Amino acid sequence: MVPTMGALHAGHRALIERAVAENDRVVVTIFVNPAQFGPREDFARYPRTLDADLGLLGDVGVHAAFVPSVEAMYPPGLVTRLDISGPLGERLEGASRPGHFNGVALVVTKLLVAGLPDRAYFGQKDAQQCAVVRRLARDLDTGVEIVVCPTVRDTDGLAISSRNLYLSPEERMRALAIPSGLAEAMAQFDAGERDSSALATTVRSCLENKGLDVDYVAVVKADTFSEVETAAPTNQIVLAARIGNTRLIDVVRLGVDTAPVGRGV
Ligand code: PAF
Repeated sequence: MVPTMGALHAGHRALIERAVAENDRVVVTIFVNPAQFGPREDFARYPRTLDADLGLLGDVGVHAAFVPSVEAMYPPGLVTRLDISGPLGERLEGASRPGHFNGVALVVTKLLVAGLPDRAYFGQKDAQQCAVVRRLARDLDTGVEIVVCPTVRDTDGLAISSRNLYLSPEERMRALAIPSGLAEAMAQFDAGERDSSALATTVRSCLENKGLDVDYVAVVKADTFSEVETAAPTNQIVLAARIGNTRLIDVVRLGVDTAPVGRGV
């Protein structure tokens, strides 16, 4: 199973192609999940491109698409909730988007129950979501293997996201501060810097220099999302920032990923 909210792009395509290569049968789910959007977020304007999405699924040999309605997923009278507690659910993305991971957890659980897949595929760009989903798959004894696939980037280094569609050409240029800030911090790490706050400051300055409104930059453990003082390989630098009305997130894995762009870009 490859759960998505549609508006499929090259990042989804990579997940789906890998799922098709590794499994006999693949179902892609397309559902813009109202439960994971806050009241002032972009649920209404989130891109919906169903015809193009279904065309892509046909091209890559997916066996089935599951495109439920909101009423089918959230029947009247629904009272069951899932609560992702502790730092994993409540820090960083969880703090900026209260209730977001509870909404993700509920819909992912419902999709896994509906499809009973052997494996489910998610993109590393949503790093905290990946950690939440891994944890819930384990906590709820789903038996589903969670496969996390590397972030796909445009040639200029910007991580591909459905929300990139919101950026004006000028904002799209300024957004490149994200991959270049991360690349600079990775270069510092590779040169021996282990102080997390120094690495985070590097990224933050790069974003602020281009007028991005930084929500957070942190160095975290990949599984718990607890922040570390001393950075180590496999820790992740995670960030969220606003450019105009668009909020973007990104992540690199220290000592694992190659830098999103060359130094000093
Ligand atoms: O990453 C997404 O597109 C969504 O959060 C997901 C996992 C499909 C749940 O709605």
